[in-house]
Amino acid sequence: MTLLDSMERTGYRQAFSNLIEGRRVTMPLTRSELDAMQPSSRSIHAGSTVRLGDAQPTAPPIHVATAFTYPTTDELDAVFADNSSGYVYSRFGNPTVNALEEAVAAIEGTDAAVAYGSGMAAIHGIVAAIARPGSTVIASRDVYGATHALLGGYLADNGVKTIFVDIRDLDGLGSLAREHQPALIFAETVSNPLMRVANVRRIAAIAHAAGAKFVLDNTFATPIVTRAVALGADAVVYSSTKHYGGHGDTTGGLVATSNDIAHKLREQNKLIGAIAAPFDAWLVLRGLRTLDLRVRKQSANAAELVAWLERDDRAESVNYPGLQSDLPTDQFCDGLHGTMLSFEILGAGRDEVFRFQDALRLIQPATTLGDIGSLVLHPATSSHRGLTPGQRVEIGIADGLVRVSAGIEDARDIIADLDQALNVALAR
Ligand SMILES: Cc1ncc(COP(=O)(O)O)c(C=O)c1O
Repeated sequence: MTLLDSMERTGYRQAFSNLIEGRRVTMPLTRSELDAMQPSSRSIHAGSTVRLGDAQPTAPPIHVATAFTYPTTDELDAVFADNSSGYVYSRFGNPTVNALEEAVAAIEGTDAAVAYGSGMAAIHGIVAAIARPGSTVIASRDVYGATHALLGGYLADNGVKTIFVDIRDLDGLGSLAREHQPALIFAETVSNPLMRVANVRRIAAIAHAAGAKFVLDNTFATPIVTRAVALGADAVVYSSTKHYGGHGDTTGGLVATSNDIAHKLREQNKLIGAIAAPFDAWLVLRGLRTLDLRVRKQSANAAELVAWLERDDRAESVNYPGLQSDLPTDQFCDGLHGTMLSFEILGAGRDEVFRFQDALRLIQPATTLGDIGSLVLHPATSSHRGLTPGQRVEIGIADGLVRVSAGIEDARDIIADLDQALNVALAR
């Protein structure tokens, strides 16, 4: 039998001529079409789609496809031209990533959200979408080290000027905003590692009065503690590597914002490609199912650790939003003060902190936060390593300072671990 005979027999030829005539063809290849092909072709095309019929999976699938095809090229063309919704190429949009973005927008109360490959990619994306060469940004000087470097170095080299300020000085911020007419004001809800709280509602008002957008990095607070958009932020940014993912097994970033800004971010991402990968998006999507439970338990544990440290004279000072007298209480939902705290070990320097970290059994010393397991970090040799000792003293970061991210373990076990490690650190 010739190939043409076999195509005729299997209907493949008919399907092929339908396509040529521009009629719809059912995809994928049928079993009889596959049977007419050579084994090497079958191995490429068999099993390439999953048929679910009316069944709806109870968990979202991970779509790893690079590209999406349609029964006719006209349909593909309509999606490409944005005349019809759909997917073309995963750098432009992917169903699993989109499922995460829809979930985040629903949680944050925004029109839309855009998922990124890291928190830094998200921060770069939103700043670059709002600030043009020649624009001014006013940013909190307490922002995460890489954000400081991005604004003060990389973006400065690209013509965006950033003025760093003490974001708690609202009068100073107001007059600088009036004078410089910034494109945007950037702050973190709770600063790292001293847990200084930005007054989100007041900063939003200052930004809007100056015609600026207000971008808030809400990574430390989470949407469970601080409802950033309801308080006036125009865009809220996260490292989803942290609480959103929550299990220390993914790297990602999120921006939740209006449709207008999200559209710009998506167009920018078509060129920059700072997109989230489908599997990472899926991990964050699974993580956010328990975000509320985890953050409430972590926050309760953090409050217990703070109460214990406050009573313990081995802790020289404790930093925690709940201890600040001028706290804007309306931005802390349900009396939650977050999962993060820091404290100074009495009389300690680098050696004592290293002994403390090495003695920990349950708590892990690691450069991240917001996980189900408790974590510590030594800011002087990690997040703020790039600063001179003098600069660290100026900000208030002593060599004996330790940052703690409370996990969801039993608080008694976390405290017992801190207790024995403090004894080891101060034994000599
Ligand atoms: C407050 C804050 N924002 C942004 C980032 C950057 O996130 P990523 O490491 O996912 O790029 C971090 C990382 O630690 C962070 O702590």
